[in-house]
Amino acid sequence: MRILGVGTATLDIVNTVEDYPAEDTEVRALEQRISLGGNAANTLVVLRQLGHECAWAGTIADDSDSHRIRSDLKRHGIAMDHAVACEGGKTPTSHISLNRRNGSRTIVHFRNLPEYSFEDFSRVDLAPYDWVHFEGRNVPCLKSMLRRVKAGEGVGCSLEIEKARDGIEGLFPLASLLLFSRGYALRQGFGNGASLLSAVRNSGGSNAVMTCSWGADGAWGLDDSGTTLHSRAPKVTQVRDTLGAGDVFNAAMIHGMLSNVGLSALLDDACRLAARKVGQVGFEGLGRE
Ligand code: FRU
Repeated sequence: MRILGVGTATLDIVNTVEDYPAEDTEVRALEQRISLGGNAANTLVVLRQLGHECAWAGTIADDSDSHRIRSDLKRHGIAMDHAVACEGGKTPTSHISLNRRNGSRTIVHFRNLPEYSFEDFSRVDLAPYDWVHFEGRNVPCLKSMLRRVKAGEGVGCSLEIEKARDGIEGLFPLASLLLFSRGYALRQGFGNGASLLSAVRNSGGSNAVMTCSWGADGAWGLDDSGTTLHSRAPKVTQVRDTLGAGDVFNAAMIHGMLSNVGLSALLDDACRLAARKVGQVGFEGLGRE
């Protein structure tokens, strides 16, 4: 299937450290990895491995760091015809400390690139795509983008709600799949995914399929008939790298929606793939059985 991902591509500088450093100290990194990151880009990297044709749409700088992003997208076979280059812009970077002891990741993110606008998106021919995935950012523009996709025939669309942003709730009725994070649920005062999902449904916000992933506690889902489901996360012997686990979960969900898998099996598959991801460093090889 053909999937368009709208969101960020960043340069991730991942330093593996023995343990999380104390403030105002200097520690030696055990390893360093520099690679493409960003929620939408990571999700597409995994969807490629799951056999889909993928394109990324977002803004990209024209500085030397952007070469790495361009070459990684190319290496993964992700088209970037809809990307918009920002003259004089600086590549968004994430300096990440990856704790070898427990796989936790601490991110310092810098970004000052302009957001991908509705004008940019309106130039994209959506006809070739079966699915459009959006990162939940730049809320005012997203509303028009989601409306445009909704108006098209037979194109599914997902919205990732990772962070609380002003007015993001107004986007919920416009997507066919809502992918909530634990962070968002906690910020809204919910202690688990089930209570968030039923609150969204009861507020009349959306009849879409919804999920809320919860790390080692698995994930909750709510199908279009209102049935709540929960999948446990498989036990991971050693958690090595949690960076982007949510992006992997989202990729598996989109893949399952496109394969018409029932929500219960789909949640299980997504938890399994996210668990495999946290047991390894990076995203390579996730498409292999
Ligand atoms: C992981 C990630 C990183 C990126 C950061 C941006 O989910 O996408 O690859 O640096 O989050 O917020």
